[in-house]
Amino acid sequence: MSLLRGRFGQQTKVDMERFGSSIDVDLVMLDEDIDGSLAHAAMLGETGVLSPADAEVIAEGLESVRAELHAGSFVPRDADEDIHMAVERRLTELVGDVGKKLHTARSRNDQVATDVRLWLLRQVPRLEAALAALVDALLERIDRDGETLMPGYTHLQRGQPILLGHQLLAHAWPLTRDRGRLRDARRRFDRCPLGACAMAGTAHPIDRHRTADQLGFSAPVENAMDAVAARDHAQEVVAACAIVMVHLSRMAEELIVWSSSEFDFVRLDEGYATGSSIMPQKRNPDAAELVRGKSGRVVGALNSLLVMVKGLPLAYNRDLQEDRAALFDAVTTTFDSVSIMAGVWQGLAVRKDRFEQALVGDPSLATELADHLASRGVPFREAHEAIGGLVRWCDETGRSLDQLDRETAASFHPTLADAPLETLLDPRAATARRTSFGGTAWSEVQRQVALLRADAAD
Ligand code: ARG
Repeated sequence: MSLLRGRFGQQTKVDMERFGSSIDVDLVMLDEDIDGSLAHAAMLGETGVLSPADAEVIAEGLESVRAELHAGSFVPRDADEDIHMAVERRLTELVGDVGKKLHTARSRNDQVATDVRLWLLRQVPRLEAALAALVDALLERIDRDGETLMPGYTHLQRGQPILLGHQLLAHAWPLTRDRGRLRDARRRFDRCPLGACAMAGTAHPIDRHRTADQLGFSAPVENAMDAVAARDHAQEVVAACAIVMVHLSRMAEELIVWSSSEFDFVRLDEGYATGSSIMPQKRNPDAAELVRGKSGRVVGALNSLLVMVKGLPLAYNRDLQEDRAALFDAVTTTFDSVSIMAGVWQGLAVRKDRFEQALVGDPSLATELADHLASRGVPFREAHEAIGGLVRWCDETGRSLDQLDRETAASFHPTLADAPLETLLDPRAATARRTSFGGTAWSEVQRQVALLRADAAD
């Protein structure tokens, strides 16, 4: 008979045992479960709820259970229902009846909530560090290749010449905000539910501050009912993960496009690409495609967590057992994806010639001519229209902007008669002019690189 069926006359049905078991997912947080129990037992011993001798026996027993679980010599079964009951059963088998005292002044409701927050307290900083490493990989890439000229795109149409560094920064900043989002979330979930018991607290003279402190939390959760009912910590972390994955997915999409034969701007390191089972020439950008694909899983996990909790009456409901599959998978998938992307950037071969070739004679320099007219007092709309006509003429006559002569230019707007066409139509000069705050000029790129490096160090 299960430990919890004192009031029942019947065994749990076997299919219900299987259906109700969360053992598989719980094993991810087995160390957190043991650590939570160790802190609880120590506190019970200190406060006199248990004798110090009993607390000591329980602590030793818990360490044995941990060792057995890690070694695989103790394997929980579905009948245990969850990791909490499995640990308690094995503890009692090892140390005898004193093991049954461990559950004084706690419930599985506060226990599971504690395990999950403790897992987050340990895993989220790893994810923050992985994001910092990815940003660092981008910054190193900027050090090496940041001055490469390339077309900046809007609508995936060439827009204006920019520096590769400018574009990479536009990936690095969101990832830095992601790290900040996780850090903010950590400030909020860093509260310990242990000792909230089922929802109402306890009459035993426990010390929740002591257990919170021992487990490395800043403080206990203030309200015992909130402590067991809330899952916004999981939702918030997974929301942050989903945003990370959306950022990575956009980056992945760009790498996929850039590595196509049509663009051929970059080559993925062979270690991150795969071949085809039939087409011998293929070098597929699988790392990037997998990241793009996995983003769907994480966005889905956020959806699960939100819908799962919506409509649940306070406090604990068994529905909440489903939170961990989504949470653990989202955090792990995000960590793995961020780490892989750092490797991809480190190993990426940047084809400067191809990036820069894409600008030769390209109409993406048309804005330079319009800007020049505007700087000479021509209303920008008038300039825009005149240069639009010039670009159409290029299209129709099969000419490119770099073949533009002065007379033709002047025929579209008289003010172009004495324009410094060569400088205006030089893509590097065009990027160098864009020194406005946040512009693509190299000085602005470097200013931001320094800021991001300082941010990573704090
Ligand atoms: N396995 C349960 C869960 O994951 C632990 C809490 C059980 N509490 C309860 N009242 N049945 O949520």
